[in-house]
Amino acid sequence: MRIGLRFVLPLLAVLALLAWGASVVLNDTLRRWFERDMSMRAELAVNGARQGLLAPWRNDARQKIATVLAGIARDERVMGVAACDCELGLVASSPEYPSTFDCQAVGRNTRKPEVRGSGGWRWVSWAEVFRLPGGSVHVSATPVGDEAGPLGFVVLVQDMSDADRRESMTRQYTFAAFALLAAAASLLTFLVARLSWKDWTTEIRRFLRGGKSRASRPEFQPVLSDVRELVAQITTEAQADGRGNAWNALRLRQTLKHYLHRERVIIVANRQPYIHEFAPDGSIRVSHPASGLVTALEPVMRACSGVWIAHGNGSADSTVVDQSGRVRVPPGEESFVIRRVWLTPEEEAGYYYGFANEGLWPLCHIAHTRPNFRSADWAYYQSVNQKFSDAACAEVDIDDPIILVQDYHFALAPRMIRERLPRATILSFWHIPWPHSERVAICPWQKELLQGMLGSSILGFHTQLHCNNFLDAVDRFLEARIDREQHAVVQRGRITLVRPYPISIECPSRWLKQVAPVAECRASVFAELHLAPDALLGVGVDRMDYTKGIEERLLAVEQLLERSPHLLGRFTFAQLAEPSRTAIERYRELNVAVERLTDRINSRFGNQTYKPVVLLREHHEPLTVFRYYRAADVCYVSSLHDGMNLVAKEFISARDDDRGVLVLSRFTGAARELTEALIVNPYDIEEASSALATALSMSAQEQEERMRSMRLYLTEFNIYRWAGRMLVDAARLRLRDRVSSRLVDYPKLAEVTQE
Ligand code: G6P
Repeated sequence: MRIGLRFVLPLLAVLALLAWGASVVLNDTLRRWFERDMSMRAELAVNGARQGLLAPWRNDARQKIATVLAGIARDERVMGVAACDCELGLVASSPEYPSTFDCQAVGRNTRKPEVRGSGGWRWVSWAEVFRLPGGSVHVSATPVGDEAGPLGFVVLVQDMSDADRRESMTRQYTFAAFALLAAAASLLTFLVARLSWKDWTTEIRRFLRGGKSRASRPEFQPVLSDVRELVAQITTEAQADGRGNAWNALRLRQTLKHYLHRERVIIVANRQPYIHEFAPDGSIRVSHPASGLVTALEPVMRACSGVWIAHGNGSADSTVVDQSGRVRVPPGEESFVIRRVWLTPEEEAGYYYGFANEGLWPLCHIAHTRPNFRSADWAYYQSVNQKFSDAACAEVDIDDPIILVQDYHFALAPRMIRERLPRATILSFWHIPWPHSERVAICPWQKELLQGMLGSSILGFHTQLHCNNFLDAVDRFLEARIDREQHAVVQRGRITLVRPYPISIECPSRWLKQVAPVAECRASVFAELHLAPDALLGVGVDRMDYTKGIEERLLAVEQLLERSPHLLGRFTFAQLAEPSRTAIERYRELNVAVERLTDRINSRFGNQTYKPVVLLREHHEPLTVFRYYRAADVCYVSSLHDGMNLVAKEFISARDDDRGVLVLSRFTGAARELTEALIVNPYDIEEASSALATALSMSAQEQEERMRSMRLYLTEFNIYRWAGRMLVDAARLRLRDRVSSRLVDYPKLAEVTQE
């Protein structure tokens, strides 16, 4: 229909213009003919009456003249006749002669000077049409005289309403004729467009149903196979969603295979999911690092298989790998490979501690720690990004692999990989917040970072706000086209989609299969902490990082104890704090500050047997963390700024008993999703301590309602969905690229076919 309109409307416009032009020309010509005809008729009428006029005129027999004039006026078109003398005085007239055209007015046109200044006159015929309110009239003046000289002139006024009528009829007929012509032409155009369109769609439909495209239309082939693939994808996805098919490891694996025709992916991430370390007895132990990134991506990797390229930082890492630094994990399952990249102490100091964690980390988090950018660190950041990119390229065996680049450690890698593998699908995810462009301006290499990230096919952030911030930064610092409708950046014809993908966790969690029932967990944790069975337990689980708001959290605990004396001796807060990035001064300061605060609270409210705050500053394996989650009455996540925060989600996933309360900082990405948590401003110590008090006194029923709703949400929006959505988007992008590149080739193909 739209195609029809696209042709028909301009056609109608052109035809209307033509109709108007034609009617103007036609009318003009007809009118001129009619006027000439009237002038001739007037002259004939006067000449015919001339003989009857001459004698009475010479004898001034006015009555006789009037009779002759009345004879002329008998013609129905003649409105009036008058005879005027050479002094422009009226001699006689027919009875209905209109006074408007008196002898004076008409005579001025018909009398011309014989010789300039001589005082003599020469008489000429004259005629003109006047458009009056009641219709047009034709007025003519014809001289009358004989050999003896001129006598005067006869004025004839003729009715031209007939000509007016004819004119308007001509206009109507012309328009009607053109309207008919327009309708016929439009109908014809529309039918031709419809038939062509039908031809196309029939061809596509036949092809999609599995039939062969007609041999006469080989040009359809490249496009049709892609269209069919796209329809199959959309149908499968719609069916899966319609069934309420939950995202799990199997569905993710199928997605990868079905949409991307791949069995495996390559992940580039600084932190490895399994660390091999020598125990004091010389044996090798495998540990799981505390990292939100690892928590989220390790289940994805187990589902998809492939290679995880990471920094080998464990003491026994190099002992267990093969010649190319590869080792199969998880132990006993061996579903994927870690390829370890080795860094010199200088590289680690410059790239990891320096540029990534003293520069980018504080730049991206609003936590009041000054970012430090040093050019020596920047040089290491570049060379290490290149090193990891080379390792990723060395792992691929096809020219369009799927590579997942993770986090702020590798802002430059997407572009470096793209240079080597132009057809790769590079999915980058930024696990921390992306700041406002005012802050981005602080980094001396902001352009290089943005360009590096734009090597990605898809660039993911946790929230729409972070995506907007990123697009604003591109707008401000780079010359690139921002497609706000598609949420994409286009540079030199290459597109990077910038989309929010709120990350999540494996839910249900695999650790739940191994951890003891809630009552047992509570008993064992209470025993470890020497708590009475009726004690109340709060937990915090974090890396020791200044963005986590651990000091503010302890201040809230302190105020809670101040304001609730009934909790003294009964409430304990256990802070599981994983030592982190301790080579950086700011982290060491934080350790001291947290330690001091803990001591202060314990000395204020504790005694020999009661310690209100227990600081467990060491590495805890996931099973221990899960035991604490399950033992707790409340979990407080107090981040001052956090992209998502997966501790909050892990706590929910650990509580299959539907009990326990989550108190959650509003400055986490998770606060947008876990709305049944008690959401607080961690800087507002009063509000936070009140929320802790509310949590500790919340009825079992309310706890259950809140927890159940959040668990349901997490089961639906788990890490498999996160990865699945990114992969499906990537598949669409790949297909779109393929279809558009073939459409570009289409004219060439058509030429070949014709030959
Ligand atoms: C954050 C980052 C991760 C990082 C984790 C632990 O969650 O987004 O990339 O792995 O912190 O930090 P670390 O420096 O120990 O790897």
